[in-house]
Amino acid sequence: MSIHISAKPGEIAETVLLPGDPLRAQWIAETFLDNPVCYNNIRGMLGYTGFYKKKRISVQGTGMGIPSTLIYCHELITTHKAKQLIRVGSAGAYQKEIHLRDIIIAMSASTTSAINANRFPNSFYAPTADFDLFSKSIAYAQKNNITIKAGNVLSADQFYDDDPNFYKKWAEFGVLCVEMEAAGIYSIAAKHKVKALTILTISDSLVTKEQIPASERENSFTKMVEIALNIS
Ligand code: ADE
Repeated sequence: MSIHISAKPGEIAETVLLPGDPLRAQWIAETFLDNPVCYNNIRGMLGYTGFYKKKRISVQGTGMGIPSTLIYCHELITTHKAKQLIRVGSAGAYQKEIHLRDIIIAMSASTTSAINANRFPNSFYAPTADFDLFSKSIAYAQKNNITIKAGNVLSADQFYDDDPNFYKKWAEFGVLCVEMEAAGIYSIAAKHKVKALTILTISDSLVTKEQIPASERENSFTKMVEIALNIS
């Protein structure tokens, strides 16, 4: 067991899906996995291992933001020997062509987090998806007629920014949407030579101010979870 994950050796699979919300981890495990077993409830950050099409897969909640997420990724990789981390999360659209419920694959993740700025003084590291997982996600979506968009996303440190127009500069430079974890996951995965991908479903739009109703969120995430489970 590690400080924040109470799983015993071997209880976590090599592939781990990472939703931010622990209750979404429970929903994914109970909806998609055969024989899910809960291995963690420390701080309510639920983690499960089960089977999808006979493959062993884990789902671990991470909490919101890079600092919380890195605690779980670090322990998953170093203690529990995870080899593939696939974030499944929600995001806010930065472009008018990106609509509610669209699925976005994060090829790269810009960030307002200072973690990499501190790591690489006077330089700018570019957190990037694993090419193998990325290619598989595109191929699976195309084969199954799931429309996806792929590109650069922003992993922001603040959900509520002081300036309501903050997003416009990022949008001008082609950033598709905002979430809060991908840049941290891509960086720690690169450091430890494991694979990582972030798949997002648009839950709100900074452009139109629309939001998916909370009651509809889980259903609209089904296709994203299906992609994640089938590329692992
Ligand atoms: N996740 C979903 N919507 C978001 C937003 N607007 N900002 C940051 N993270 C998000």
